[in-house]
Amino acid sequence: MVLQQVDIRSELYSQSEDILAERIAARKKELAEKLLILCHHYQQESVYKFADMTGDSLKLAKHAAACNDKPYIVFCGVHFMAESADILTGDNQAVILPDLRAGCPMADMATFDEVSWAWKELNGVTDVDRIIPVTYVNSSAAIKAFVGERGGSVCTSSNAERVLTWALERGEKVFFFPDEHLGRNSAIALGIKPEEIVLWNRDEYLGGNKAEAIKRAKAILWNGYCTVHMQFNAAHVRMWRERDQDIRIMVHPECTHEVLAGADLYGSTENIIKAVSSSPPGSKWAIGTEINLVNRLARLNPDKEIHSLSPFQCLCSTMYRIKPKYLLWILDNLVKGEVRNQITVDPDTAKLAKIALDRMLEI
Ligand code: 13P
Ligand code: SF4
Repeated sequence: MVLQQVDIRSELYSQSEDILAERIAARKKELAEKLLILCHHYQQESVYKFADMTGDSLKLAKHAAACNDKPYIVFCGVHFMAESADILTGDNQAVILPDLRAGCPMADMATFDEVSWAWKELNGVTDVDRIIPVTYVNSSAAIKAFVGERGGSVCTSSNAERVLTWALERGEKVFFFPDEHLGRNSAIALGIKPEEIVLWNRDEYLGGNKAEAIKRAKAILWNGYCTVHMQFNAAHVRMWRERDQDIRIMVHPECTHEVLAGADLYGSTENIIKAVSSSPPGSKWAIGTEINLVNRLARLNPDKEIHSLSPFQCLCSTMYRIKPKYLLWILDNLVKGEVRNQITVDPDTAKLAKIALDRMLEI
């Protein structure tokens, strides 16, 4: 889906960071009773500092579901997160994304049409009633609805193994999308053998697989990926091991299995924060995730040595779209009673997608 971000007031473009921050703080005070600002951990500091609540995808979805007293939820994250929040909140609440261009390239790698078509092809070679579809939360509401309608569930990076276990107790196979790597890392962690995992290449008949391989498979993985986490590689892991024997390496499970296999730990953004924050003073870490989070960890843990696993800045450029001037533009409008950039999911899609989201929250 292409969303058009309108031009914000030109006056805001020329304001300094300090002035923008002062004005955001003032607007936040004015709207205090009505406003909740949720921020994902990859947000830049100048936005993150205004969060009422921060979290990984799971925590933010839970916050949104639990908050029923705020009519305005400003979601400083990406589009799929705001969609999930809209599905989980009441009709009297507006979920707002400060810049509509903040999408997730990985979520766009599995469209409803592509996945429906793949499902039809699977039905030609195996019994789809024995397949449980699982979608990573980084997916559109339409994909979540597809999954909800077929007895499947959403998962996040912090519960993927649990959701896969749940799915394999109910069916013979899991069809997992859009992230190949979270799917593979979770399947391997559950002891699924490499020969029972097949990759579904978009645009190829049967995903480029023989019918026999599909019949044998326990996990069928869509070949989507995160452009940020694909920038970490096994050479980075070797580099840190050679440089410092005491270093601990922790990565996000959207990294390839090669990277994960060389790391000491892996986990969601929230779990990375917990691991680093609770480590003793003097600990040394190389972290394989987005750079805004790594820089924040380094700043908040001055008694520890914290590096990015990659020598290059791995930035999520879509998360980075949420800038203070966009946040202020949203709040200025809310003070006037005008809701801009509201994210709404149509009721039919929302109903089915909620089934898949609720299943995850129950598992
Ligand atoms: P978390 O749920 O771990 O915060 O991950 C979200 C995400 O988009 C990572 O790239
Ligand atoms: Fe999407 Fe990757 Fe950005 Fe997360 S870091 S929002 S998966 S592009």
